[in-house]
Amino acid sequence: MQLIFDSLTGNVRRLAGRVAQRLEAPPALDVRHAEPDGDFLLLTYTFHRGEVPDTTLAFLARHGHRLRGVVASGSYHWGTHFARAADVIAARYSVPVVAKVNKGGTDTDVAQITGWVQTHRTELL
Ligand SMILES: Cc1cc2nc3c(=O)[nH]c(=O)nc-3n(C[C@H](O)[C@H](O)[C@H](O)COP(=O)(O)O)c2cc1C
Repeated sequence: MQLIFDSLTGNVRRLAGRVAQRLEAPPALDVRHAEPDGDFLLLTYTFHRGEVPDTTLAFLARHGHRLRGVVASGSYHWGTHFARAADVIAARYSVPVVAKVNKGGTDTDVAQITGWVQTHRTELL
């Protein structure tokens, strides 16, 4: 399973990097360049009151059939809209919300996401 991320200010890029490192996997790929050839876990962020970034939507329009789970970052500051991008994507593509994280996530978040990938991957990373 590949790791694919979308990030504007770096929080999700750093989170994805930490997960890849912990998995001893190849680097996570940016949605702007990624052309996945198998299943992937998407890590993205939440924008404009609970919405999915356009860059993520464009990527999923082409590759959503290979999406297996979603992680969304957000900020607690946004209250009920916190990390809502995960819920929107999970509902649209019928995949699980693997995690919702504040900003770049905690060590516990990294461990949980890593564990999910280890449990669900069917291909060598
Ligand atoms: C204009 C703007 C709107 C945002 N809207 C939300 C939101 O609705 N819900 C949320 O949880 N976080 C929201 N955030 C916070 C980001 O999702 C959060 O900072 C995230 O970690 C950014 O990831 P990145 O650094 O990888 O781009 C918003 C941030 C900005 C700048």
